[in-house]
Amino acid sequence: MIHKTDRVVITGCGGMLGEAVFDIFKDACQVRASDIDLNVPWLERLDVSVAKDVALYLEKVKPNYIVHLAALTDMEYCELHPEEAYATNTGGVQNVVEYAREHNIPLVYISTAGIFDGGKDEYTETDVPNPLSVYGKSKYGGELVAKTLPKSIVIRAGWMMGGGPKKDKKFINKIIKQLRAGSKELAIVNDKFGTPCHTYDLAQSIKYLLDNNEYGLYHGACEGGGSRADISRYLLECLGLDNQVKVKEVDSSYFAENYFAKRPRSEKLINIELKKVAPHLTRDWRICLKEYIDRFNWNLWDLNTSGMERSFYKNYFKIEKEHWLMVVRRMIVEDNLKSYSVKPPRETKVLDFGCGSGIFVDEIATLGYKAHGLDISEEAIKFGVLQGIKTWELLMRTKLIFLTILLMRSAPLMS
Ligand SMILES: NC(=O)c1ccc[n+]([C@@H]2O[C@H](COP(=O)([O-])OP(=O)(O)OC[C@H]3O[C@@H](n4cnc5c(N)ncnc54)[C@H](OP(=O)(O)O)[C@@H]3O)[C@@H](O)[C@H]2O)c1
Repeated sequence: MIHKTDRVVITGCGGMLGEAVFDIFKDACQVRASDIDLNVPWLERLDVSVAKDVALYLEKVKPNYIVHLAALTDMEYCELHPEEAYATNTGGVQNVVEYAREHNIPLVYISTAGIFDGGKDEYTETDVPNPLSVYGKSKYGGELVAKTLPKSIVIRAGWMMGGGPKKDKKFINKIIKQLRAGSKELAIVNDKFGTPCHTYDLAQSIKYLLDNNEYGLYHGACEGGGSRADISRYLLECLGLDNQVKVKEVDSSYFAENYFAKRPRSEKLINIELKKVAPHLTRDWRICLKEYIDRFNWNLWDLNTSGMERSFYKNYFKIEKEHWLMVVRRMIVEDNLKSYSVKPPRETKVLDFGCGSGIFVDEIATLGYKAHGLDISEEAIKFGVLQGIKTWELLMRTKLIFLTILLMRSAPLMS
């Protein structure tokens, strides 16, 4: 069981999976998150391919657990830079394994469905790997090294879904970027099959297996699977764009120039071992994809809103922000607020009922109050968020209960 005082080193934590792993581990133990790419403030720099840096870092931190996520995951980059790929994806594992062996601590290594050649329709943990690409081979090398440890947990992941608009480098975000660029027809391959893998579920599996000392080899993807075309069609449904955007099915030769690394026909994983110990952590990919899309703001407002609505909210936002009547009205309310508040601003909650695109809520928050906005129009709220109004918490229609509670507690009401 991981305890609050345990130190857990997470390598490659600035990536898609790292975002979820950090979230799941951060309150449970002392996390030391590192990456070669310092894209968030809580990361320390560690290049796992440099043996002496890894040894020095680990000797200094003295971890009780290592979660090794660091890898070069761009398959084309790996084809073009095989030495770097092996140094990172196999050599990096060797470097952390040495410390783990010497100190007899558990290590988690994330492998990939890409270690199989795709000749079968789906793969269990006992199927024989035969990687086709440099990425697959270098990751399989890492797997073999990790498995030499008595306390290793090797989890083979599927098509990763996670990280959100900023960190997701893979299929889901590639499609969303095309949508944002205005594509009304997506060319998607129908001859590659796989199982999506939700980073939050995988992060929970990592924690669960470590907590319960369940060492061994696992497949850790979602349940089910399909072709890339199947996944993109469901993605469009989740985004509410299935009636506006068409999926044009193509075969892999269509992308042969850009995606030249050899990919297996099927990378579908079956989670036999994980289901034995943690069946609650293997959910259907559709549920996970919907959850992933709902977790982040993908800034697709423009695509879901008609031109007329767009221009209405643009004008409305401008008027709300600049018109003298609105400005004076806000000044009066702010003045009143000061006289109503018995507590200092940071302990005073203010609800703007009918907040529109949220200018006033933002101003109130800037004055130090705990400001909330509520509006019947989800579009107005989304528009406010797109304009950079971020300091306040949004309460949509479904949270009207909050208002009732507030009124029942006889909070001062200004109208
Ligand atoms: N993404 C997938 O579809 C997928 C599928 C199956 C398994 N996996 C495995 O899951 C693990 C997590 O990957 P991910 O999906 O989170 O991909 P990711 O977003 O690319 O994360 C990997 C992180 O490792 C970093 N990194 C690269 N070289 C490094 C080095 N020498 N030292 C330290 N960090 C380094 C990367 O930085 P840069 O961004 O600068 O390269 C990136 O931040 C990896 O082991 C990957 O092989 C991924």
